[in-house]
Amino acid sequence: MKILLCSCCLFISFISFAQRIELPTARFITGDDIKYSYPATDDGNWKDIQANIVWDAQGYEKYDGYAWYRFHIVLPASLKTNSLWKDSLRIFLAKIDDVCEVYLNGTKIGKSGSFPEDKEGYITTWNKKQEYHVAISKQYLNWGADNLLAVRVYDGGGAGGIFSGTPYVSMLDLIDGIEINNHSPVEFLSKNKAKKNILLANNFNQRISGTLHYAVIDVENDKAEKHSIPVNISPNGKFTFTIPVTLAERNNLYYEFEEGQTRKKIQLTETIPYLLTPAPSPSPKINGANVFGIRPNAPFLFKIPATGKKPLQYSVENLPAGLKVDAATGIITGSIKTKGDHKMTLIVKNSLGTDKKEFTVKCGDLLALTPPMGWNSWNCWGLSVSDERLKISAQAMIDKGLIDHGWTYMNIDDGWEAETRNEKGEIVSNKKFPDLKKMGDWLHNKGLKFGIYSSPGSKTCGGYLGSYQHELQDAQSYAGWGIDYLKYDWCSYETVYRNEKDTSLAAFIKPYSIMQLALQSQNRDIVYSLCQYGMKDVWKWGATVNGNCWRTTGDIEDSWESLRNIGFNQTSQYAYAGPGRWNDPDMMIVGQVGWGDNLHPTRLTPDEQYTHVSLWCLLSAPLLIGCDLGKLDDFTLNLLTNDEVIAVDQDPLGKQAKQVIKTDTYQVWMKELEDGSKAIGIFNLSDKNDVIRFYWSQLGLTDTHKARDLWRQKDLGIFRSMFATKVPSHGVTLIRIDK
Ligand code: GLA
Repeated sequence: MKILLCSCCLFISFISFAQRIELPTARFITGDDIKYSYPATDDGNWKDIQANIVWDAQGYEKYDGYAWYRFHIVLPASLKTNSLWKDSLRIFLAKIDDVCEVYLNGTKIGKSGSFPEDKEGYITTWNKKQEYHVAISKQYLNWGADNLLAVRVYDGGGAGGIFSGTPYVSMLDLIDGIEINNHSPVEFLSKNKAKKNILLANNFNQRISGTLHYAVIDVENDKAEKHSIPVNISPNGKFTFTIPVTLAERNNLYYEFEEGQTRKKIQLTETIPYLLTPAPSPSPKINGANVFGIRPNAPFLFKIPATGKKPLQYSVENLPAGLKVDAATGIITGSIKTKGDHKMTLIVKNSLGTDKKEFTVKCGDLLALTPPMGWNSWNCWGLSVSDERLKISAQAMIDKGLIDHGWTYMNIDDGWEAETRNEKGEIVSNKKFPDLKKMGDWLHNKGLKFGIYSSPGSKTCGGYLGSYQHELQDAQSYAGWGIDYLKYDWCSYETVYRNEKDTSLAAFIKPYSIMQLALQSQNRDIVYSLCQYGMKDVWKWGATVNGNCWRTTGDIEDSWESLRNIGFNQTSQYAYAGPGRWNDPDMMIVGQVGWGDNLHPTRLTPDEQYTHVSLWCLLSAPLLIGCDLGKLDDFTLNLLTNDEVIAVDQDPLGKQAKQVIKTDTYQVWMKELEDGSKAIGIFNLSDKNDVIRFYWSQLGLTDTHKARDLWRQKDLGIFRSMFATKVPSHGVTLIRIDK
């Protein structure tokens, strides 16, 4: 993409409102030289760059390595004199992908992350807010004259540079010293009562006084109880406070600290987690998809997912020859020789009754007839996944009952591979995974499936061994360990592709087709998941290499921006989804996530999480939970076990929802289901709770429809001509309407 920048904005930094100097553009050069930090260095020949979007979007696509930004800033003396506190200058640099060092008039004022040549080696801090403070007494500041702010950046891969906000300079206020920490979870005391602890931290060396205002808001009924208390926090001190809450269905907590001298405020609103999925009935109920794809003669493994008071007793009518069902566990094993549709009836009983469900095993070439459902280690453990961590999540999958709703795959992502292959050239696991075959057997005995990760390049994205030139050998190893799912991640294959200098689509597809053949030659059903971030419209050719799913985007993270940008942009691929061929907008970001040793609760609000699950189900996306299931909380469990919502994802017709209404504030997505009914998601993308209305005719539908709320599993009645629903900010109403 070419972006035209006007060169006259070059030296102009402007004061957009009273005390903030915005820095929308900078001078820019790739490469590295310490002289670039010196004010005297001439940057006349450098290029202009926008300082709020990555350089890849501004003519430096795929540039990885060093680069420098230089901002020329006039600091008016009034900035200092108008400030009440007159203590320090704040330099805000949004986020910097990946590592940076910041110089003001030649003096280094800060650093974030670690450069490859540093003692610690390369450590990215791409997602960290970059803010630096400089005391106004510093001699090197030039008041009323030019100052040079130079930023040295290193990009270790993917996008690079300053992004996610416009940099600015301002004076610090006392309010900037206050941080509201609301990380402690809401404690539920009884059905209607809860409490929330919040902490105000004073990060400055100066006493700060003011008022804490808070309100508990009953969102549905628009009622609020407001309170105020005086607060006085000693230098670097803390103030803790417990807010008592009387619960309605949806409650928001609002808090605001108002600094006493300037009356400046900081505010936070949070939604108290609220459960929508009704508790499962004690009577037996068979959940999950009603089709299952296998290849002839491959080992068969399927656990009948069912809820109800334990013990349950499982049986199958018309079980095809070659299969047997374990009456106590519901695990069906064996193999089927003949191609074709094998129809049977699954039966589950307990002391309260019986449930039956028609089920078809399609024996042919196609796997993953409905989107794969399971767990993947990446969004929680990143490269620090281990055998033990995998086992904890697998056990929780069973103990918490997720397996009874169809959650099956337990997939290890990157980080399991040893540093070198063995003397036969075979890939082996590192010491975090002592015995993969044993792990496979353990999972299979419990009715779970086993997934693994590799790259067509010589190295994975995390720098571990990839499969390059060992594809067949690796596929054989996977089959030997009992692998059921392979995520195959482009990563360092980029180097091979570039070196071969063949830019044809065939050259691009080649590594995926090599692994396809290797997998196909194993007597094992291995779901094939292509991961190359959607390059070259993978949805158009993924099926030609027998890919069962393919990532359509870059990596997701647990923020509303990431969820919104990925989820609501899955518009062009919908026609390519179908049984065995799924668009994959990346794994789920619910529960405890962290991409490493330190996990945190997802930063998505409860409403954003309802949006996430609803949208992924409408998109027929693979559902891979990316959190530590050992620490699964009641809200996340409830979110992941709504069978009517999951049924939208697992619908055998395999259509993907289409965006049917898009406005600045809301969107409606509609998915056709096998029985002729439709699932419709009404999403509020705005920052305000709202009532959203639309006519059925806007969706191309007839005039009258019966609607059911899928999250609450409640019929809503008959709607003539139009539908209207209250939708919380960033939240969703998910309905199913009759034909
Ligand atoms: C890439 C993928 C992620 C994850 C990591 C592992 O970034 O997109 O999903 O697999 O590699 O290194």
